Amino acid sequence: MAPSRDDLATSDIDAYLERQEQTSMLRFITCGSVDDGKSTLIGRLLYDSKLLFEDHLAALEADSKRIGTQGGELDFALLVDGLVAEREQGITIDVAYRFFSTERRKFIVADTPGHEQYTRNMVTGASTADLAVVLIDARKGVLTQTRRHSYLVSLLGIRHVVVAINKIDLVGHSQEVYEAIEADYREFADRIGLHDVVCIPISALLGDNVTERSAAMPWYSGPSLIEHLENVQIDDEAQSLPFRMPVQWVNRPDLDFRGFSGQIVGGVVRPGDAVRVLPSGRTSTVARIVTYDGDLDRAVAGRSVTITLADEIDISRGDVLAAASSPPGVADQFEAHIVWMSEEEMLPGRPYLMKIGTRTVTATLAQPKYEVNVNTLEHSAARTLGLNQIGVCNIGVDRPIPFDPYVENRDMGGFILIDRYTNSTVAAGLLHFALRRSDNVHWQAVEIDKNAHAAQKNQRPCVVWLTGLSGSGKSTIANIVEQKLFELGHHSYLLDGDNVRHGLNKDLGFTDADRVENIRRVSEVAGLMVDAGLIVLVSFISPFRAERRMARERVAPDEFIEVHVDTPLAVAEERDPKGLYRKARAGELSNFTGIDSPYEVPEGAELVIDTTVLSAEQAADAVIEALRAAGRLG
Ligand code: ADX
Repeated sequence: MAPSRDDLATSDIDAYLERQEQTSMLRFITCGSVDDGKSTLIGRLLYDSKLLFEDHLAALEADSKRIGTQGGELDFALLVDGLVAEREQGITIDVAYRFFSTERRKFIVADTPGHEQYTRNMVTGASTADLAVVLIDARKGVLTQTRRHSYLVSLLGIRHVVVAINKIDLVGHSQEVYEAIEADYREFADRIGLHDVVCIPISALLGDNVTERSAAMPWYSGPSLIEHLENVQIDDEAQSLPFRMPVQWVNRPDLDFRGFSGQIVGGVVRPGDAVRVLPSGRTSTVARIVTYDGDLDRAVAGRSVTITLADEIDISRGDVLAAASSPPGVADQFEAHIVWMSEEEMLPGRPYLMKIGTRTVTATLAQPKYEVNVNTLEHSAARTLGLNQIGVCNIGVDRPIPFDPYVENRDMGGFILIDRYTNSTVAAGLLHFALRRSDNVHWQAVEIDKNAHAAQKNQRPCVVWLTGLSGSGKSTIANIVEQKLFELGHHSYLLDGDNVRHGLNKDLGFTDADRVENIRRVSEVAGLMVDAGLIVLVSFISPFRAERRMARERVAPDEFIEVHVDTPLAVAEERDPKGLYRKARAGELSNFTGIDSPYEVPEGAELVIDTTVLSAEQAADAVIEALRAAGRLG
């Protein structure tokens, strides 16, 4: 077997970093398509940097002879493929971090799978890198994948790029091929703002120009890859930024000690420094910087510490400690770049979880302003983003968060979006700037509030949300419920899908995205009607859990009664009151719920009505009973 990761280097990046001088360290990522030779190159770097112990080499040689693809020669890909180390970064990743050093420098390389759908891994690896090695197969030249990766490299703020034009031996060490690829790449790099680009012709397999300059290419006079990596000048930006530390946890072992732990993501902090806590805006002074090895009189970006303050102020996880004189912004509406990473396309209007720093909030995306074509860099109109697509969108969060634009501080402006049900990471994003529009819109205090409206009507307002397939009987039941409420002297209003789609929502169709928007608007209207003191009956298919949850969260917990009008598809189709199932089956109607568009069955409905057992009248009685039981009828 290949040697284990632990034999080669430590897996604990934080501990490793603590021990190393930042200045002697280069972090880089390698990007390339599947067969560009990435694993071979990394294996070669590890091997040539003499980090390997003799016995590992022996094992490698044995393995190479047994299963290698190089006819008994050392197969460096084997070395790397046996070393998959995953690191929890709030995102499920396949990024392997490896460590090696030469006499001049220490290196951390994030090896990211190059397969098309693994953009996310690249984004993860790239977010901490100083430099990117972009591999190009000399036989293939610049591919879409190369452009996509380079665009991401630029977007993610990596300023230094090495283009390793690999397998140069397979094109006869041709200067012409090399120069054509270089010209092609530079033209693209210029357009995406990558200006520090160094091209090196290499053969990762044979070692040409990897550590030693190759005799096979007398026409090339530049450095070998490792020489360049050893010498490239990287400014240590993070330390020159204003101080930032997102609080990971509040460390309170006893009543006498209260410290705030986290990793410094910008600048330097010293005892006595004035700090501001965001989003609250409160200020205090740093009392101590505590670590396991004793107090520090100074801590810099990259370091994990516990800070105590001179004043007792309320601080919790997700808050940011910052330099008092140059604090981050606080906002709840932004423009952002979004890199979509899920097979399921982005749904504007759907609430996703957003993880930014150590904070998790709920976020909603607006329709993209545009999508970026990574080949041509053109901006095109888009209603949504699919797997690997990159675009710019406005994004809103449910409460104000501290942030810096990504270009100023990657940790303070980079985020991921997570699906609330599957828990999978669906996107990575970079905040550009806060949208000021919400700053000038304030809540207007109203004299006659919800309670006043409700008291006058002698009822307690709420939403009765009926969900179910088309033809399940929602509208019929809702109608009877409304008549009964009317007879009882209650004030209600029935929002019905078909009706609302004639007016407020007449611009919407039946794609997933339109249904999300349909329900978002209706939730909002229902919420306003609750404020008006009404009992609101909502009869919409509302096929997605996420949006039913959004509707629920729009009002108070006791103001939402979800009713699943549960009719088997076969029964609804048999009834087919509007003849739509027939049309859908005949292929004349697409995206029809239950046929070629999903219905997600409710899991926590307050009331489930089986319409194969209950008549519409009985179902309506059950709803009235549920309203009464919930204390809504006064
Ligand atoms: S929802 O899915 O967005 O909640 P909504 O309740 O507003 O749907 O509208 C559903 C009604 O639109 C159905 O009762 C049916 O009369 C009609 N309709 C027309 N096309 C479709 C379709 N493709 N899928 C479902 N309903 C459709």
